Amino acid sequence: MNDMKFKLANWFKKTSPSVKNIPKHIAIIMDGNGRWARQRGMPRTAGHRVGMDRVRDAVAVCLEYGVPFLTLYAFSTENWKRPEEEVRFLMDLFEEALKSEVDKLDRQNVRVRFIGLRHNLRPSLRKLMEESEARTSGNTALTLNLAINYGGRSEIVSAVQKIAVAVRQGEVDPEEINEAFFGNYLFTAGQPDPDLLIKPGGESRISNFLLWQIAYTEIYYSTKYWPDFKKADMRDAIVFYSQRERRFGGVKRGESV
Ligand code: IPE
Ligand code: IPE
Ligand code: MG
Repeated sequence: MNDMKFKLANWFKKTSPSVKNIPKHIAIIMDGNGRWARQRGMPRTAGHRVGMDRVRDAVAVCLEYGVPFLTLYAFSTENWKRPEEEVRFLMDLFEEALKSEVDKLDRQNVRVRFIGLRHNLRPSLRKLMEESEARTSGNTALTLNLAINYGGRSEIVSAVQKIAVAVRQGEVDPEEINEAFFGNYLFTAGQPDPDLLIKPGGESRISNFLLWQIAYTEIYYSTKYWPDFKKADMRDAIVFYSQRERRFGGVKRGESV
C-alpha cells in the first residue's frame, strides 16, 4: 500500500501541471559527503562512495524530465588542500566510476564531458576521461559535464589569457569582445547557462563554481547532505525552479510603471 502511495505521488509529481517550466541546465555542488559519513561514525570517504549513487539518481531524473544539460562539481582546484589520502581516494573513485558507469551512460544516450584543468590529473584518469568523452560524443539525450579540478576563477583567467594571445596575434579585435564572445572561451562554450543551481550540504556558498555562468541562475539550497539527496529531492528542486519568475533585471511581464 505504501509502495502504491509512493508510486502515485511520484506519478503526480512527474505529470503535475506545475512542472511545465523545465530547466535546460542544472548545476549541482555535490557537498556534504564528509559530514554525512562523520555523522554515522564512518570515514569521510564512505560519504564519497554513497555520493556516487546520487550521481546516478541525478542523471536519471534529468533524463526523466528531459533536462538537456547537467553539470556536477566533483573536485575543485582547491580540493588538493585535503589530506593526500582523501585526494587519492577521490581520484581512485573517479577512475572506478568511469570504468563501471560509461557503458550504462552510453546506453542512456548521455554525452559525458569534463570541465576543469586536466594537466595535473594522473595520466590513467586522463586517459579514461578522454575515452569516455570519445565514446559518448554522439549521444544526444543529456550532456553531463563533470567538473574535476575545476575552478571558476581559473576558468576565467585562462579565457582571458587565450583572448589576449589572439589579440596579440592580430586574430581578434578588442572591439569584438562582448559577453557572448567571452563565453565561447569557457569550458561550457556553446551550452546554455545553468537555470538552476542545487546546493546541498546546508551551507550557502558557491565555492568557486561556474562564477561567470551563474549570473542569473536560480539557487536551490538544501540542508540535506549530498549522500541523502535522492531522486525525490531532485524532483523537488525542479518543481521549485518551475515556480520561479525570472526577470533578468527587467520587471514582471505585463506590469505597468
Ligand atoms: C563534497 O563533500 C565532495 C567533494 C568535495 C569531493 P565534502 O567532502 O566537501 O563533504 P563536507 O562538506 O566536508 O561534509
Ligand atoms: C565544493 O565543496 C567542491 C565540491 C563539491 C567538489 P567544498 O567542500 O570543497 O567547498 P568549501 O571548502 O566548503 O567551500
Ligand atoms: Mg564540503
